[in-house]
Amino acid sequence: MKARHDERMLGEQNIARIPDGTKLLDRKDVHRGHLLLVNADHPVRTTEEPPLTLVAETGIRVLDEVIALETACMQQLAALLEAAEAGDDIVVVSGYRSMEEQTNIYTRSLEDNGPAYTAKYVALPGRSEHQTGLAVDVGERSEGELDFIAPSFPDRGKCLAFKLLAASYGFIQRYKEGKEGLTGIACEPWHFRYVGAPHAATMERLGFCLEEYIDYVKSYSYEGERLTHEGEGWRAETYYVPAEPQGRTAVWIPACDDYSLSGNNADGFIMTAYHGAGYVF
Ligand code: DAL
Ligand code: ZN
Repeated sequence: MKARHDERMLGEQNIARIPDGTKLLDRKDVHRGHLLLVNADHPVRTTEEPPLTLVAETGIRVLDEVIALETACMQQLAALLEAAEAGDDIVVVSGYRSMEEQTNIYTRSLEDNGPAYTAKYVALPGRSEHQTGLAVDVGERSEGELDFIAPSFPDRGKCLAFKLLAASYGFIQRYKEGKEGLTGIACEPWHFRYVGAPHAATMERLGFCLEEYIDYVKSYSYEGERLTHEGEGWRAETYYVPAEPQGRTAVWIPACDDYSLSGNNADGFIMTAYHGAGYVF
Protein backbone atom coordinates (compact mmCIF):
# COMPACT_ATOMS: atom_id res chain seq x y z
CA MET A 1 0.00 0.00 0.00
CA LYS A 2 1.26 3.43 -0.81
CA ALA A 3 1.00 6.00 1.94
CA ARG A 4 -0.73 9.31 1.52
CA HIS A 5 1.40 12.25 0.60
CA ASP A 6 2.87 13.92 3.66
CA GLU A 7 6.01 15.77 2.74
CA ARG A 8 5.28 19.27 3.87
CA MET A 9 7.86 21.58 5.21
CA LEU A 10 7.44 23.39 8.52
CA GLY A 11 5.00 20.81 9.88
CA GLU A 12 1.91 22.26 8.25
CA GLN A 13 -1.32 20.30 7.92
CA ASN A 14 -2.79 21.22 4.55
CA ILE A 15 -5.11 18.33 3.93
CA ALA A 16 -8.19 20.18 2.66
CA ARG A 17 -8.36 22.06 -0.61
CA ILE A 18 -6.20 25.13 -0.30
CA PRO A 19 -7.20 28.51 -1.76
CA ASP A 20 -4.54 30.55 -3.50
CA GLY A 21 -2.47 32.81 -1.32
CA THR A 22 1.05 33.57 -0.23
CA LYS A 23 3.40 32.15 2.33
CA LEU A 24 6.27 34.11 3.83
CA LEU A 25 9.48 32.15 4.25
CA ASP A 26 12.57 33.06 6.22
CA ARG A 27 16.06 33.03 4.81
CA LYS A 28 16.89 30.01 6.99
CA ASP A 29 14.08 28.02 5.32
CA VAL A 30 16.35 27.79 2.24
CA HIS A 31 18.17 25.12 4.28
CA ARG A 32 15.10 23.11 5.30
CA GLY A 33 12.93 20.59 3.44
CA HIS A 34 13.05 17.39 1.42
CA LEU A 35 14.78 18.75 -1.70
CA LEU A 36 17.97 20.02 -0.09
CA LEU A 37 21.02 19.64 -2.32
CA VAL A 38 23.94 18.54 -0.16
CA ASN A 39 27.32 17.94 -1.75
CA ALA A 40 30.91 19.24 -1.55
CA ASP A 41 29.77 22.67 -2.82
CA HIS A 42 26.60 22.79 -0.73
CA PRO A 43 27.26 21.92 2.91
CA VAL A 44 24.56 21.22 5.46
CA ARG A 45 23.72 24.68 6.77
CA THR A 46 21.15 24.04 9.45
CA THR A 47 22.14 23.15 12.97
CA GLU A 48 18.60 21.88 13.65
CA GLU A 49 18.25 18.13 14.02
CA PRO A 50 15.50 16.86 11.67
CA PRO A 51 12.43 15.12 13.18
CA LEU A 52 13.80 11.60 13.58
CA THR A 53 12.26 8.14 13.95
CA LEU A 54 14.15 5.06 15.10
CA VAL A 55 14.12 2.59 12.20
CA ALA A 56 14.07 -0.52 14.43
CA GLU A 57 10.82 0.68 16.07
CA THR A 58 8.99 0.10 12.80
CA GLY A 59 10.14 -3.52 12.61
CA ILE A 60 12.59 -2.95 9.76
CA ARG A 61 15.86 -4.90 9.94
CA VAL A 62 18.79 -2.72 11.00
CA LEU A 63 22.53 -3.12 11.40
CA ASP A 64 22.37 -1.06 14.60
CA GLU A 65 19.39 -0.31 16.87
CA VAL A 66 20.25 3.41 17.05
CA ILE A 67 19.79 4.06 13.31
CA ALA A 68 17.21 6.82 12.75
CA LEU A 69 15.73 8.59 9.71
CA GLU A 70 13.77 11.76 9.10
CA THR A 71 10.16 10.83 9.81
CA ALA A 72 8.60 11.16 6.31
CA CYS A 73 11.61 9.35 4.81
CA MET A 74 11.15 6.59 7.38
CA GLN A 75 7.43 6.19 6.64
CA GLN A 76 8.06 5.95 2.92
CA LEU A 77 10.91 3.50 3.38
CA ALA A 78 8.58 1.24 5.36
CA ALA A 79 5.95 1.47 2.59
CA LEU A 80 8.58 0.76 -0.08
CA LEU A 81 9.95 -2.29 1.74
CA GLU A 82 6.42 -3.61 2.10
CA ALA A 83 5.61 -3.06 -1.57
CA ALA A 84 8.85 -4.79 -2.61
CA GLU A 85 8.13 -7.62 -0.11
CA ALA A 86 11.72 -7.11 0.96
CA GLY A 87 11.40 -6.67 4.73
CA ASP A 88 13.22 -9.94 5.44
CA ASP A 89 15.88 -9.47 2.80
CA ILE A 90 17.06 -5.88 3.13
CA VAL A 91 18.88 -4.37 6.11
CA VAL A 92 19.20 -0.66 6.87
CA VAL A 93 22.92 -0.10 7.34
CA SER A 94 23.09 3.66 7.88
CA GLY A 95 20.66 6.57 8.21
CA TYR A 96 20.93 9.91 10.01
CA ARG A 97 24.45 10.87 11.01
CA SER A 98 25.40 13.79 13.21
CA MET A 99 28.37 15.98 12.25
CA GLU A 100 30.40 14.11 14.85
CA GLU A 101 29.47 10.72 13.39
CA GLN A 102 30.29 11.77 9.83
CA THR A 103 33.63 13.12 11.07
CA ASN A 104 34.40 9.80 12.80
CA ILE A 105 33.40 7.76 9.74
CA TYR A 106 35.54 9.96 7.49
CA THR A 107 38.59 9.83 9.77
CA ARG A 108 38.30 6.06 10.28
CA SER A 109 37.93 5.47 6.53
CA LEU A 110 41.04 7.56 5.82
CA GLU A 111 42.98 5.34 8.24
CA ASP A 112 41.48 2.01 7.10
CA ASN A 113 40.91 2.59 3.37
CA GLY A 114 43.15 5.49 2.39
CA PRO A 115 42.38 8.87 0.76
CA ALA A 116 41.44 7.67 -2.76
CA TYR A 117 38.75 5.25 -1.56
CA THR A 118 37.49 7.71 1.04
CA ALA A 119 37.12 10.52 -1.52
CA LYS A 120 35.02 8.18 -3.70
CA TYR A 121 32.67 6.83 -1.03
CA VAL A 122 32.64 9.09 2.03
CA ALA A 123 31.43 12.69 1.96
CA LEU A 124 33.43 15.29 3.82
CA PRO A 125 32.11 16.04 7.30
CA GLY A 126 29.41 18.72 6.99
CA ARG A 127 28.81 17.72 3.36
CA SER A 128 27.02 14.41 3.75
CA GLU A 129 23.32 14.18 3.03
CA HIS A 130 23.16 11.56 5.78
CA GLN A 131 23.30 14.60 8.08
CA THR A 132 19.81 15.59 6.86
CA GLY A 133 18.22 12.25 7.84
CA LEU A 134 16.96 11.96 4.23
CA ALA A 135 19.56 9.42 3.05
CA VAL A 136 19.52 5.72 3.79
CA ASP A 137 22.06 3.00 3.01
CA VAL A 138 20.57 -0.44 2.47
CA GLY A 139 22.25 -3.81 2.13
CA GLU A 140 21.27 -7.32 1.13
CA ARG A 141 20.80 -9.51 4.19
CA SER A 142 23.22 -12.42 4.11
CA GLU A 143 25.13 -14.80 6.37
CA GLY A 144 28.27 -12.69 6.11
CA GLU A 145 28.96 -9.29 7.63
CA LEU A 146 27.68 -6.22 5.78
CA ASP A 147 30.26 -3.60 4.87
CA PHE A 148 29.27 -0.35 6.61
CA ILE A 149 30.60 2.05 3.94
CA ALA A 150 29.81 0.00 0.83
CA PRO A 151 27.18 -2.66 1.61
CA SER A 152 26.29 -5.15 -1.09
CA PHE A 153 23.05 -4.21 -2.89
CA PRO A 154 22.92 -6.26 -6.09
CA ASP A 155 20.74 -5.68 -9.15
CA ARG A 156 18.70 -8.83 -8.59
CA GLY A 157 16.00 -10.36 -6.41
CA LYS A 158 14.47 -8.24 -3.66
CA CYS A 159 17.15 -5.55 -3.99
CA LEU A 160 16.19 -5.06 -7.64
CA ALA A 161 12.47 -5.01 -6.72
CA PHE A 162 13.23 -2.30 -4.13
CA LYS A 163 15.23 -0.27 -6.66
CA LEU A 164 12.50 -0.49 -9.32
CA LEU A 165 9.79 0.69 -6.92
CA ALA A 166 11.92 3.30 -5.14
CA ALA A 167 10.83 6.34 -7.20
CA SER A 168 7.13 5.63 -6.59
CA TYR A 169 7.85 6.05 -2.90
CA GLY A 170 9.95 9.18 -3.34
CA PHE A 171 13.47 7.71 -3.35
CA ILE A 172 16.28 8.12 -5.87
CA GLN A 173 19.53 6.21 -6.18
CA ARG A 174 21.56 9.29 -5.40
CA TYR A 175 24.97 8.37 -6.85
CA LYS A 176 24.72 6.73 -10.26
CA GLU A 177 27.34 5.60 -12.69
CA GLY A 178 28.10 8.32 -15.24
CA LYS A 179 27.19 11.16 -12.86
CA GLU A 180 30.40 11.13 -10.81
CA GLY A 181 31.55 14.43 -12.35
CA LEU A 182 28.40 16.12 -11.06
CA THR A 183 27.86 14.40 -7.71
CA GLY A 184 31.54 14.11 -6.76
CA ILE A 185 30.87 10.58 -5.46
CA ALA A 186 31.39 7.17 -7.11
CA CYS A 187 28.43 4.95 -8.02
CA GLU A 188 26.71 3.79 -4.82
CA PRO A 189 23.92 1.25 -5.54
CA TRP A 190 23.11 1.11 -1.79
CA HIS A 191 22.52 4.84 -1.09
CA PHE A 192 18.96 6.10 -1.55
CA ARG A 193 17.80 9.64 -0.97
CA TYR A 194 14.26 10.67 -0.17
CA VAL A 195 13.03 13.62 -2.29
CA GLY A 196 9.27 12.94 -2.64
CA ALA A 197 7.51 10.92 -5.32
CA PRO A 198 6.77 13.53 -8.01
CA HIS A 199 10.39 14.68 -7.98
CA ALA A 200 11.85 11.16 -7.89
CA ALA A 201 9.64 10.06 -10.83
CA THR A 202 10.52 13.15 -12.88
CA MET A 203 14.25 12.80 -12.15
CA GLU A 204 14.07 9.19 -13.28
CA ARG A 205 12.14 10.07 -16.43
CA LEU A 206 14.67 12.77 -17.37
CA GLY A 207 17.74 10.79 -16.25
CA PHE A 208 18.80 13.60 -13.89
CA CYS A 209 20.83 13.37 -10.72
CA LEU A 210 19.86 15.77 -7.93
CA GLU A 211 22.43 18.39 -9.00
CA GLU A 212 20.88 18.47 -12.49
CA TYR A 213 17.30 18.47 -11.21
CA ILE A 214 17.79 21.34 -8.77
CA ASP A 215 19.28 23.36 -11.62
CA TYR A 216 16.50 22.34 -14.04
CA VAL A 217 13.71 23.35 -11.64
CA LYS A 218 15.10 26.89 -11.68
CA SER A 219 13.79 27.38 -15.21
CA TYR A 220 10.19 27.09 -13.90
CA SER A 221 8.35 29.88 -12.12
CA TYR A 222 4.96 30.85 -10.70
CA GLU A 223 4.35 33.42 -13.41
CA GLY A 224 5.89 31.43 -16.24
CA GLU A 225 5.90 27.76 -17.14
CA ARG A 226 5.54 25.19 -14.36
CA LEU A 227 7.02 21.70 -14.29
CA THR A 228 4.20 19.19 -14.31
CA HIS A 229 4.24 15.68 -12.90
CA GLU A 230 1.36 13.29 -13.46
CA GLY A 231 0.22 10.10 -11.82
CA GLU A 232 -2.97 8.07 -11.63
CA GLY A 233 -5.68 10.40 -10.37
CA TRP A 234 -3.34 13.29 -9.55
CA ARG A 235 -1.22 15.98 -11.09
CA ALA A 236 1.43 18.15 -9.49
CA GLU A 237 3.12 21.35 -10.58
CA THR A 238 6.50 22.58 -9.43
CA TYR A 239 8.22 25.92 -9.67
CA TYR A 240 11.18 27.73 -8.22
CA VAL A 241 11.10 30.91 -6.17
CA PRO A 242 14.43 32.68 -5.61
CA ALA A 243 15.04 33.75 -2.01
CA GLU A 244 15.08 37.50 -1.41
CA PRO A 245 18.68 38.55 -0.65
CA GLN A 246 17.47 39.97 2.65
CA GLY A 247 14.42 39.41 4.77
CA ARG A 248 11.53 37.15 4.00
CA THR A 249 10.41 35.77 0.63
CA ALA A 250 6.76 35.64 -0.44
CA VAL A 251 5.95 32.33 -2.13
CA TRP A 252 2.74 32.27 -4.15
CA ILE A 253 0.63 29.19 -3.65
CA PRO A 254 -1.96 28.37 -6.32
CA ALA A 255 -5.35 26.89 -5.38
CA CYS A 256 -4.58 23.19 -4.88
CA ASP A 257 -5.46 20.13 -2.82
CA ASP A 258 -2.13 20.06 -1.03
CA TYR A 259 1.35 21.48 -1.38
CA SER A 260 4.89 21.00 -0.22
CA LEU A 261 7.68 23.52 0.08
CA SER A 262 11.39 22.94 0.34
CA GLY A 263 14.50 25.03 0.28
CA ASN A 264 17.18 23.94 -2.21
CA ASN A 265 20.02 24.60 0.27
CA ALA A 266 21.49 27.15 -2.13
CA ASP A 267 19.42 30.15 -3.17
CA GLY A 268 15.71 29.54 -3.17
CA PHE A 269 12.58 27.50 -2.66
CA ILE A 270 10.87 24.72 -4.59
CA MET A 271 7.10 24.82 -4.44
CA THR A 272 5.02 21.80 -5.44
CA ALA A 273 1.21 21.99 -5.63
CA TYR A 274 -0.89 18.83 -5.90
CA HIS A 275 -4.26 18.47 -7.60
CA GLY A 276 -6.62 15.54 -7.45
CA ALA A 277 -7.61 13.36 -4.54
CA GLY A 278 -5.94 10.27 -5.98
CA TYR A 279 -2.36 11.32 -5.48
CA VAL A 280 -0.08 9.23 -3.36
CA PHE A 281 3.54 9.59 -2.43
N1 DAL B 1 28.55 7.80 1.19
C1 DAL B 1 28.03 9.13 1.07
C2 DAL B 1 28.64 9.88 -0.05
C3 DAL B 1 28.22 9.90 2.37
O1 DAL B 1 29.19 9.65 3.07
O2 DAL B 1 27.42 10.77 2.62
ZN1 ZN C 1 24.94 6.60 2.17
